[in-house]
Amino acid sequence: MTPSVRPLIAGNWKMNGLKGDGLALVKALADKAATRPDLRPEIVLCPPATLLALAVQLAGSSGVKVGGQDCHAQAKGAHTGDISAEMLADLGCSHVIVGHSERREDHKEGNLTVRAKAEAAHRAGLTAILCLGESAEEREGGKTLDRVGRQLDFCLPRSATPANTVIAYEPIWAIGSGRIPTLDEVAEVHKFLRGRLGERMKDGAAARILYGGSAKPANAGELLGVKDVDGLLVGGASLQAEGFWQMIEAAAG
Ligand code: PGA
Repeated sequence: MTPSVRPLIAGNWKMNGLKGDGLALVKALADKAATRPDLRPEIVLCPPATLLALAVQLAGSSGVKVGGQDCHAQAKGAHTGDISAEMLADLGCSHVIVGHSERREDHKEGNLTVRAKAEAAHRAGLTAILCLGESAEEREGGKTLDRVGRQLDFCLPRSATPANTVIAYEPIWAIGSGRIPTLDEVAEVHKFLRGRLGERMKDGAAARILYGGSAKPANAGELLGVKDVDGLLVGGASLQAEGFWQMIEAAAG
């Protein structure tokens, strides 16, 4: 972790959570956070859109923040089924994930769409959690840095600052697979992204870079111990309150 930077632990629930289990999970984490007002890591939960309003209410003043998993680039209009960044902000969300590999794949979102979504997040006053990462073939072909560098170049809008943008490095092959890169590989990519951010964003060297992809309680400590890893974007393991809290504790140092 970067000592001067506040770590961020974000939970990406994906398409999981009904009112019963989802709200119980928000409540369990909010109750824990409320007893720890001095807790170092920032906590962001990204439940499905259907639970956002209730999640914001339950999170209350606990310190737990709530984010969307996606937003449309436009503020409003004829886009059936979509949700704008302004709508997320209106609910009380503070963050939104953009460019997750599952959206890039399922909805054919390209880098320029992702960039427009990040811009929309900034326009609405949200912090964008901008995801990037390489495929297994790119990793095996030695193209990882090339791929993530290009994604960063194309997806990062001019409006990005360390305050309104968090980068999440998520190797696609590590997501949901139980496999993670070696710590040296994580360190290499994060160092590279740190340098590129320094060139591409004012004060970019201070921006947070999260690792995501099969992060879980058993590996959180070692991942967070890697230089330039400023937090975690957690999928499956964020659906269990106890385990997710252990990961938050791991970031508390
Ligand atoms: P995972 O997902 O932790 O279940 O691998 C991470 C993500 O996709 O953000």
